Amino acid sequence: MFRSALLLFVLALVLPAAVKKDPFGRTPAGEAVDIYTLTNAAGLEARIMTYGATVVSLKAPDKGGQKADVLLGFDSLDGYLKEHPYMGAIVGRYGNRIAKGQFSLNGKSYRLAVNNGPNALHGGLRGFDKRVWTAEAKADSVVLKYSSAAGEEGYPGKLDVTVTYTITPANELRIDYRAVADQDTVANLTNHAYFNLSGEPTILNHLVKLEADRFTPVDTDLIPTGEIRSVAGTPFDFRKETPVGTRINASDEQITFGKGYDHNWVLNGPPGTLRKAAEVYSPRSGRLLTVSTTEPGVQFYTGNFLDGSLKGKGGKKYSQRAALCLETQHYPNSPNQPTFPTTVVKKGVPMTSTTVWQFSTR
Ligand code: BGC
Repeated sequence: MFRSALLLFVLALVLPAAVKKDPFGRTPAGEAVDIYTLTNAAGLEARIMTYGATVVSLKAPDKGGQKADVLLGFDSLDGYLKEHPYMGAIVGRYGNRIAKGQFSLNGKSYRLAVNNGPNALHGGLRGFDKRVWTAEAKADSVVLKYSSAAGEEGYPGKLDVTVTYTITPANELRIDYRAVADQDTVANLTNHAYFNLSGEPTILNHLVKLEADRFTPVDTDLIPTGEIRSVAGTPFDFRKETPVGTRINASDEQITFGKGYDHNWVLNGPPGTLRKAAEVYSPRSGRLLTVSTTEPGVQFYTGNFLDGSLKGKGGKKYSQRAALCLETQHYPNSPNQPTFPTTVVKKGVPMTSTTVWQFSTR
C-alpha cells in the first residue's frame, strides 16, 4: 500500500501533465464548442469546455484508488444548453445576487437584467456561463477568455476576463481569474461546481469544515442584510468538521430562508492571500476536497433548489441536496453594501483572484 502510494507520488512528480482538445458540439447559433481534458500522473482528470468555461467533469481517486466523477452535470453539450443552475460554470459578471438589480457607481445608477424575482443573480439573463469563450491549451493548463461588452446585462464598461484552469502534480485544479475593465465597473467571479464526493443520492453524510468564524445573514430574498454574524451557537458553525445533514433542518430563521444552507461565510485570514477556506470529506469514498482561495467569502449552497426535475449524467435525476457548492467569492450584493469588501473594478486596474481545489483521500 505504502509502496504503491510512493510510486504514484514519484510518478506524479516526473510525468508531465497532459492537455487534449476535442470538439464538443455547437450552440444553436452555430458556434463551435471545444472540450479540453487535463490529466496528471496522480490520477486527476478535469474536462473543461469553452461554453461557460465550464468544468464538465472531474475524476478523482477514492481511498481504494478507484476514479469517479465528483461533479454534477450533463453528458453532452445539449444538457448545458438547456436551463440548469450553473453546473460547473464560471459565473459572472457578478456571482450571486444584486438587490433589485440596481446599484450606483461614481454617482451614476445602473439597472441590471433581473432574473431571480426582483433581483439580479449570477450575471443576469445571459451571463458568462452562457457564452462561448476562446481557449488556448498550455502544457498543464487551459486559458479561457471572454470579452464582456459595455452595457451587457446592464453592467458598465467592457470587461476582459481570463480564467486559467491548471492541473498540478499535487492533485489540484487551480483556477486563476483576471479581469480588466475599460471603465469602472463591478465584478465577482466564481465557479459554480456541484460536488458529490461519493455518488450517494445526497451529500447529507458529507462532512464539511469551513474556515470561517462569521457569516452574512440574509433576508427572505437571500440578500445579505449587511450584518456580519458570529457562527457560534448556530447551525452555521462548521469550524469543526460536521456532517452536512446534522443541522440542515434546524428550526432557525436563516435555515428557513435558505431552505438549508445557501449563505456566504466570511473567511478567516486576509483576503488576497491564498489560504484554506473549506474541507469536504466523504466517509463513504474517503475522498477529501480541500478548497483554498484568495477571496474574502464562500457561498456554501447545499443544492436546496434541486428538485429531481433535472436529468443529468447517465440519466441520473438530481434531487434536493444531491450535491454541494463552495462558491469562493466576494459577498453577495456588495455593490449596495459599502461595509463589505469592494467589488469595484477600476478602469485599467486588473482584478485577480485564485481558487484551488485539491483532492486527496483519508
Ligand atoms: C445561490 C442559490 C441558487 C444557486 C443556483 C447559488 O449561488 O445562492 O440561491 O439557487 O446558486 O442558481
